[in-house]
Parts: sequence; structure tokens; C-alpha cells
Amino acid sequence: MRSAGSGRHAPLVAAAGILLLCVAGRARAQEVQAENVTVAEGGQAEINCKLHQYDGSIVVIQNPSRQTLFFNGTRALKDERFQLVEFTQKQVRIVLSNARLEDEGGYFCQLYTEDTHHQIAILTVLVPPENPLVEVKEQAVEGGEVELTCSVPRSRPAATLRWYRDRREIKGISSKQEIGKVFSITNVVRFRVERKDHSSIVTCEATHPALRGQRKQTQYVLDVQYSPTARIHPPQGVMREGDTLVLTCAVNGNPLPTDIKWSRANDSLPERALIEGEVLTIPNLSLLDNGTYVCQVANKHGRSSDQYVLVVYDPGAIVEAQTSVPYAIVGGILALLVFLVICVLIVMVWCSIRQKGSYLTHEASGLDEHGEAREAFLNGGDGHKRKEEFFI
Ligand SMILES: *[C@@H]1O[C@H](CO)[C@@H](O)[C@H](O)[C@H]1NC(C)=O
Ligand SMILES: *[C@@H]1O[C@H](CO)[C@@H](O)[C@H](O)[C@H]1NC(C)=O
Ligand SMILES: *[C@@H]1O[C@H](CO)[C@@H](O)[C@H](O)[C@H]1NC(C)=O
Ligand SMILES: *[C@@H]1O[C@H](CO)[C@@H](O)[C@H](O)[C@H]1NC(C)=O
Ligand SMILES: *[C@@H]1O[C@H](CO)[C@@H](O)[C@H](O)[C@H]1NC(C)=O
Repeated sequence: MRSAGSGRHAPLVAAAGILLLCVAGRARAQEVQAENVTVAEGGQAEINCKLHQYDGSIVVIQNPSRQTLFFNGTRALKDERFQLVEFTQKQVRIVLSNARLEDEGGYFCQLYTEDTHHQIAILTVLVPPENPLVEVKEQAVEGGEVELTCSVPRSRPAATLRWYRDRREIKGISSKQEIGKVFSITNVVRFRVERKDHSSIVTCEATHPALRGQRKQTQYVLDVQYSPTARIHPPQGVMREGDTLVLTCAVNGNPLPTDIKWSRANDSLPERALIEGEVLTIPNLSLLDNGTYVCQVANKHGRSSDQYVLVVYDPGAIVEAQTSVPYAIVGGILALLVFLVICVLIVMVWCSIRQKGSYLTHEASGLDEHGEAREAFLNGGDGHKRKEEFFI
């Protein structure tokens, strides 16, 4: 495109060259000033040439290949991305839109007077990074290591990549490759993973001067595979004849086991048993349904099972096995209480005999045993303090 343009406008370029030759060697104080410019790829760059004591001489602006873009305000190169936006006594201003890497280089501002002045504005084109790409080398499994690669295929200058996990940086190994004018960079991290790390997030962040403090981030959700666990949620209370048993097998694992096997140890499941995935239902229980029911799951990393021992009772049976222990404890506590009350009574009676006339004498013969006991403690010695909890 550019070479076509240059061919078309060759006469103008040549004219500029001739002019340059004509005016060379004659000295006069006149100046042009150009500033260096930085632009992000695809962005808009403004190239300024400041004129001092402009006397109407010809001003020529050339691109880095020294093709004339504008000849004293007239377009010479047919590249519409360049526009002359200002040409005054003070300055010449051109705007380049949709800047490309090839546009980089020195732009010449030349003033043809008796002496030739020129300044070069260096245009730098930066390539900011896109959001980093994150790839995992192979499927992570608990107890193993995961290797993650973060990459930015194009940036200029090279972007900086960092890994973060739980807001803390994790060190990776960076590498950089130069492809033409741009850099391809990667940062690789390796770390151990456990099942608790499944679904946790790691972030790769790219920073770059063209982003002006902003960051490009890509979050990666860890996928850690682990062996399954099975847990049967047992029903509440005892099961009696005619009841319906509902057992739920809570399954965990990655990949999640889909095939849940229900069985009965050393026996077959009752024919009435209904299996719907993780739920086993046995309606209208009979005594024959006694047994150990097992839920089994597996994935490629292992297997797990849980069991439930079903005991079916008569509808009328008083179930002692479940409650005999609590009864024993309650009985024991009651016996201890009665014993303590008796002890306290004895002590109080003894005290009232010793201290005749005390109001305790009358209280001790009162009706409320607990009231007495409390009084006894309030008035009694330190030795009884530890028993307070039984009365209050
Ligand atoms: C522009 O950049 C060039 C090369 O980087 C440097 O030599 C020159 O001094 C710069 N000019 C200005 C005005 O900053
Ligand atoms: C160059 O352009 C400027 C501004 O339009 C004009 O004043 C000047 O006369 C031109 N010079 C020549 C030699 O044509
Ligand atoms: C099943 O039978 C085996 C022997 O055949 C025995 O060792 C095991 O205890 C039995 N299990 C149950 C739950 O009855
Ligand atoms: C429950 O089972 C008993 C025998 O064990 C049977 O007589 C009764 O009809 C059954 N009830 C229902 C609702 O199926
Ligand atoms: C089931 O277990 C209960 C409680 O141990 C027992 O009374 C009943 O006889 C058992 N039934 C069978 C068929 O084993």
C-alpha cells in the first residue's frame, strides 16, 4: 500500500528532495521542534511540529521510510489514516489513526528555508496484552501436582505475568519469545493440590505500560479429581413393622459417581425395595427385612461404601435397647439427689439441736425440701459448696 502511494507521489517526493538540495548551505535562524509520541496499537497518535518565526517556507512531513506525507499542507501519500489537522504559523499537526506496528519510527518535520531545518518525532507503537490465556497441562488429581500455563501471545514491550491464589502471589517460571516486533510470554506454575482445592480460584494477571495501571486478569477454577465418599443418612427413631424405611446415600467425589449400588450383606434386597439413585425406600417393613444395608460408589480414583444396620421391631414392642442407658443415668442422678437431701437434712437437724433458738430449727421442720437445702447451703460451710449445682 505504501509502495503504491510512494510511486504515485514520486514527483512530490522528488520535488522535496530538490528543494532540500536548493536551500542547503544557506544559514538562517529558524527552528522546528518535534516531540516523541507513544501510541497503543490501533490507537490514535498526534505528531506535532512546532514552528518558530515561520516565514511561509515550505513544510514537508515524511514518514519513517522518508515518503512525503504532506507537502506544505497538501496530502502527498495516499494513506487516509494520516490527516493534517492543523497548519498555522505556530505548528503543523497531523493525526495518525489506527496505528500499526509498521508505523513506528522517526517522522521528519522539515522546513525548507535558505537553510533546512528538520526535527524527528519518534513514534513508538505499543501492543498492550489481551486477557491472558490459562491452560492446564493435565487433569489434576488429589495428592498430585497441577501445572498451569498463563500466556499472552502478543505484547510490546513484553507484558509482566503474575499468578495469584487467595490474594497471594505464587511464583512461576516466566519465559519470553520475540516474534518479529512483538513478544510472546508465558508463566508456568506448579503446586500440589488436595480435594479441598477443588473449585478454588487462581488468577493470572498481566500488567503492561500501555494499560496505564489497569490489569488484565484471567481467573481459573481448579478442577481437582478425588476419590468418592459415601455416607448413609439414617432414619430417625426405631423402625417398626409396617413402617417405611428411607435411606439416603450422600455421595461426594470428582468425578461424581453416578452409579450408586445398594445391597444387603449376605442377602438380597427385599423385593419391595425401591431404588431411585441415592435413595433406597423399603415400604411396609417386616421382621424379615432385618439386616445390613450397604451403599457403594466408585469413580476412577477409588471406591467408598457406608452401611446401615436395620432392626425391625414389633409394632407394640417397648424398645429398651435404645433407652435403657438414659434411664439408668436418670435413675442414678435421682438416687444421688435423694441421698444428698437426706445428708443435708441430717446435718441441719444436728445443727438445730446444737444451736437452739435459731430460726433454722423451725425451717428444718418445714415442708419444702429444696428450700431447706438451699438455706442449708447458704448457711453451711465451704465443704458443701460443690454440691450446689444439684439444687439450683
Ligand atoms: C525522542 O527519542 C529519541 C530516541 O529515543 C531521543 O534521542 C530524543 O532525544 C527524543 N526526543 C525528545 C524530544 O524527547
Ligand atoms: C505553505 O503553506 C503555508 C500555509 O498554508 C502558506 O502560508 C505558505 O505560503 C506556503 N508556502 C509556499 C512556499 O507555498
Ligand atoms: C456375611 O457372611 C460372612 C460369612 O459368610 C460373615 O463373616 C459376615 O459376618 C456376614 N455378614 C453379615 C453382615 O451378616
Ligand atoms: C404389609 O405386609 C404385611 C405382611 O408382612 C401384609 O399383610 C400387609 O398387607 C402389607 N401392607 C401393605 C399396605 O402392603
Ligand atoms: C429382627 O431384629 C429384632 C431385634 O433384634 C428381633 O427381635 C427380630 O426377631 C429380628 N427378626 C429377624 C427375622 O431376624
